[in-house]
Amino acid sequence: MNQEIAQDEQANLEICFSLNGSDIQVKIKPWETAVDTLRNRLGLTGIKEGCGIGECGACTIILDGKAVNGCLILAAQLDGRTVETVEGLAVSGTMNYLQKAFLDKGSIQCGFCSPGMLMSTKALLDEYKQPSRDQIINALSGNLCRCAGYVQIIEAVEEAARQEGELQKTTDK
Ligand code: FES
Ligand code: FES
Repeated sequence: MNQEIAQDEQANLEICFSLNGSDIQVKIKPWETAVDTLRNRLGLTGIKEGCGIGECGACTIILDGKAVNGCLILAAQLDGRTVETVEGLAVSGTMNYLQKAFLDKGSIQCGFCSPGMLMSTKALLDEYKQPSRDQIINALSGNLCRCAGYVQIIEAVEEAARQEGELQKTTDK
């Protein structure tokens, strides 16, 4: 028997969770990580695996409202929970304000860290509408970038927060 088929026969655990607003069911191997399931079974390749040991933040997803490292979570732990990935940010193929702020501020070079940075930023802004610079630095402290540099990224988060504030004022009127 083909080894790949034999291995996938071990995907005998079914989990259900909310993924970017849609309920999904998927069969997994009991020992596979959330990154493996999201990338390899569900095709969400925005999530990256850099270090695999919780050091780089490239695999950051939002689980029940909190930014977490997908490489340190078993897929089985997603069962019954709410998961957000970078693929959920754009609306009908159009970048949302967060993605646009990152692009406008030159925060994206190779882009490998960007999905994780964006998810850490979203979790921060979901909790604090107008975060201080220290809160931003703290929120992004688990996300490493090897090329764009952190100043542009912090500026992008500040710009996104400013835009969100403007949007809020408009909707409050
Ligand atoms: S791949 Fe998860 S923290 Fe680096
Ligand atoms: S933009 Fe390349 S790692 Fe951050």
